[in-house]
Amino acid sequence: KNEKTLAIVKPDAVSKLGTIINCLKENDIQVCKAKMVQLTRKDAAIFYEEHQSKPFYNPLLDYMTSGPVVAMEIMGSDAVKQWRKLLGPTDSNAAREQEPTSLRAMFGTDNTKNAAHGSDSATSAKREIEFFFPSSGKSKLAGTA
Ligand code: CMP
Repeated sequence: KNEKTLAIVKPDAVSKLGTIINCLKENDIQVCKAKMVQLTRKDAAIFYEEHQSKPFYNPLLDYMTSGPVVAMEIMGSDAVKQWRKLLGPTDSNAAREQEPTSLRAMFGTDNTKNAAHGSDSATSAKREIEFFFPSSGKSKLAGTA
């Protein structure tokens, strides 16, 4: 099935954006939309609200607001699963052991600073794409008009 998902290139991997886009292209995933944004703490808190009770929530918000991120609406066959496969395991160190050619293995640092994000389901993808690229034109991002 052809589907869309949301990719976020996180602050520690924005300098690797070219390589990441080449990786998408090589895997027949198209970039439909892209924007570079500096998330506010409120933006990040809303985006990651499902994790608010987790011990890594505050460090995650610190990290995601530490510099600009690049959000991309991407599309391809089975894109939700395919993009997460290209990312590798959440923990970059585990990724280096288990999937050494994955993006997190190559560009991530640890469990929090893990280079990039991918929606975990088609339902999440819909919400997350709407967050960065709202169809109504009314962005939930604090910094956007
Ligand atoms: P992401 O795919 O953006 O979704 C939630 C993020 O929380 C995840 O990538 C990591 O950056 C972070 N995260 C998830 N699990 C942990 C964990 N166990 N410890 C620290 N950070 C985590």
